[in-house]
Amino acid sequence: MIENQIPNSGLGKLIEAARREPGRALEQEFYSTPEFHTADMQSVFRKQWLLAGHVSSIPERGQYFLFEIGKESIIIVRENEDCVNAFYNVCRHRGSRVCLEKEGRRKLLTCPYHAWTYGLDGTLKAARLMPEGFKKEEYGLHACHIRLFEGLIFINLSNGTPPDFDEAYRSMLPLARQQGLATAKIAFRQSYPTKANWKLVAENFMECYHCQPAHPEYCVVHPQDQLLAFGAGPGSGSDEAAAAYQPTLDLWEAESSTMGYLNDTIDAGVFSLGMQQAVRYPINPQRGFLSETIDGSPACKKFMGDFRQADGGETALAFNPFSYVLASNDFAVMFRWTPRDEMNTDVEVTWLVHEDAEENVDYDPRKVVHVWDTTLKQDKKITEDNQAGVCSESYQPGPYSTQEARNVVFKQWYLDQLELLL
Ligand code: FES
Ligand code: FE
Repeated sequence: MIENQIPNSGLGKLIEAARREPGRALEQEFYSTPEFHTADMQSVFRKQWLLAGHVSSIPERGQYFLFEIGKESIIIVRENEDCVNAFYNVCRHRGSRVCLEKEGRRKLLTCPYHAWTYGLDGTLKAARLMPEGFKKEEYGLHACHIRLFEGLIFINLSNGTPPDFDEAYRSMLPLARQQGLATAKIAFRQSYPTKANWKLVAENFMECYHCQPAHPEYCVVHPQDQLLAFGAGPGSGSDEAAAAYQPTLDLWEAESSTMGYLNDTIDAGVFSLGMQQAVRYPINPQRGFLSETIDGSPACKKFMGDFRQADGGETALAFNPFSYVLASNDFAVMFRWTPRDEMNTDVEVTWLVHEDAEENVDYDPRKVVHVWDTTLKQDKKITEDNQAGVCSESYQPGPYSTQEARNVVFKQWYLDQLELLL
């Protein structure tokens, strides 16, 4: 496959200028131009492992779903109990999309155009009326790198060898495993298509400076001192706020440890593959919250993974700036953002519960989704308003607050990714 080339424009100069202002947001061009969208696809989205979904959405042989990003569509299909495959949704005959519906179940993947037919392993099984000498074995669907991690499906669009998944994420395995993600099932899914560049979506998720003005419900669930300390993950607040919260954190950790639970903090830093982080912290110990619900009571009677007794903790796994899991003892939320173009981003969110939990018996789906559904609708609105303002001729990148420390890290990480390409 031929990669799109980065146009030899003024990208390098804009990157250089952005480097000189590490404490400010990016210039307009980064958020609005097709040139930067192309550069982002090449330098970030073709390199990173992208969280695409959860295995429980395709339990049966032949079940598939499409993962769409930029101009790409990837078929993620279960071949058998042990094997999930990923293929570019591009027919090897004349290039039609092979699967048109977003999800479904097929015995074979038949192209709707001239009916070339592929197996669930991607091999071409049938092609009518082809001339003598045509070799079916040369026309299998192009495979896409895929990796399962505790039930989470990651794909990678690299043309060559992708970055080492284990090296980047091995250390996050114990926290993911404790949470029981591998055997979870989907309770609810929701899309929040956002008219904004993916970086505005990502940057919004990396700071909690906006939480107080924009998220009244979220601020009921999480106490102010915690939001100031690390409302958007380790290192998102100031050092002073983190130090002020540390005694509360220590106290909770000691209690959680007596229940036998693992509490770790991993922060791989700006030079890592995806600036990945993994951490556990209490949701609201001052008010005795046991789950990330509006009243703090668990939304599901069956707890996930190793949790038998509620410790009121939240597990946060950040694989990269567009792939996250946040989980209470009783349910987990998977988040992914994928760019469609320079000013449209798919925000896809999936709520997971214990595989044996029965809807309306063990859990009320409305209670499971309430806090994040409310928060994500608010995020969609503020991010779209952010994009509208950034597109103005009068826009100038403003300075980050002490609550946006993670955005400073993201900016450096992002510019590093772009520079590797130039
Ligand atoms: Fe698929 Fe012709 S393009 S069979
Ligand atoms: Fe938010």
